[in-house]
Amino acid sequence: MQIDMIKKDVLCTQELSVDEINALLKLAKAMKAERYSPKYNQLLKDKTFLMFFFNPSLRTRISFEAAATELGGHAQFLEPKTMRLKKTSKGVEVQAGETIEDAAKVLDRYACGMGIRILETSVESYGDGNALLREYAKWMKVPIVNMADDKYHPCQGLSDMMGMQEHRGDLKGKTVLMTWAHGALARSYCSVHENLLISSRLGMNVKLAYPKGYDLPEEEIAKVKANCKANGTKFEIVNDPESGYTEDVEFVYSRNWFGPDFYEIGKEAEIARASKMTEWICNQERMDRTNNALFVHPMPVDRGKEVTDEVASGPNSIITDIAENRLHTQKAIMAMTMAGLKVDI
Ligand code: CP
Repeated sequence: MQIDMIKKDVLCTQELSVDEINALLKLAKAMKAERYSPKYNQLLKDKTFLMFFFNPSLRTRISFEAAATELGGHAQFLEPKTMRLKKTSKGVEVQAGETIEDAAKVLDRYACGMGIRILETSVESYGDGNALLREYAKWMKVPIVNMADDKYHPCQGLSDMMGMQEHRGDLKGKTVLMTWAHGALARSYCSVHENLLISSRLGMNVKLAYPKGYDLPEEEIAKVKANCKANGTKFEIVNDPESGYTEDVEFVYSRNWFGPDFYEIGKEAEIARASKMTEWICNQERMDRTNNALFVHPMPVDRGKEVTDEVASGPNSIITDIAENRLHTQKAIMAMTMAGLKVDI
C-alpha cells in the first residue's frame, strides 16, 4: 500500500493512521541508513520551513534546522518578539491590529511548512497552546508541524518509537512503564501524552505510575485505554513509586509533569510540592526488577531527580539514540507532507 501525506498537518500521532505512522517510521529509518543520499537531499531544494518558538529548545530547533539543510532547503527561526506578538488572557494574538488569520495567510505564501512550539508558561490555561496551532492550521494550506505544545509532541513520540524499535524490534505485546518523577522543572504533558498514545497505538501494554493528585487529563487517558482495548493489550495505573517496576517491563520512561492545578497555583508552588517527593526517581535497583528494561526519556533530563546518573548514563539508556532520531523522523515528516514523497508499506 502506498501512503501519501502531502499537505497533512502533524499535530498529534493519534490524528494519523497507524499506516501513516508506520510509513513515517519506515522512511525515517531509511533516511538514517542513507543520511546524505541524493534520493533525499534535494527534496526541499529552494524551500523554506518556518520554525516559530514561544519556548526555548535545544533538540527541536537544531534538529529541524539540520533536517531542512539535509533535505536541500532552509529553516528560518521565528520568535514572538520579532513578529509583533504578545500574550493575552485569550492566549496569543498579533499586535498592531493584525489577526492570526492575516499573519497565517501571509506566512503561507512564503513557506513550504511551519513548525510551532508553545507550552508550559507560554500559555495561560491548559489547551491554549494546542488551540493556537489549530488556529494557524485553519488558515494555512502548507502543513503545520507540532514542535511541542501543551498537549502533544508528535516528533518526540515518533522518535521514541523509532529508538525503541531499533533496540527491541517489533513493540507489539511489549510493556512500557511511564512513571512520574520528582523535579524542579514543572513540565507540560506533551511528551508523556505522545508516548502513551503512540505506544498503545502500536500494540504495547502500558503501565502508568504517578502520585495521587498527578492525574493526566481524562480525555487523553480515555484515548490510551481505547487504543489498548482495540489492540487487546493491558493498561494499568499504580499510585506508588515502586510497584510499576516488574519483570514484564521492557522500557521505563521516567519524567516529571506538573499537577492538574498548575495554571492556578503557578510554577513556584508546583516546584515546591513536586520537589519533596524524592522517592519518585528511576534508579538501578528498580531497573534491576524489570526485563532488562531500556531507559527512555525525551530530554532534557533532570539528573538526580527524574533518574540517577547511573541509569541515565548506563548501558540500557537509549536517550541519545532517541534524540538523534528527532532529526530522521522530522526529515520523514517534511519529505512526506511538504515534498510529497510517497512511501510503500
Ligand atoms: N525533547 C525536546 O523537545 O527537546 P528540546 O526541548 O530541547 O527541543
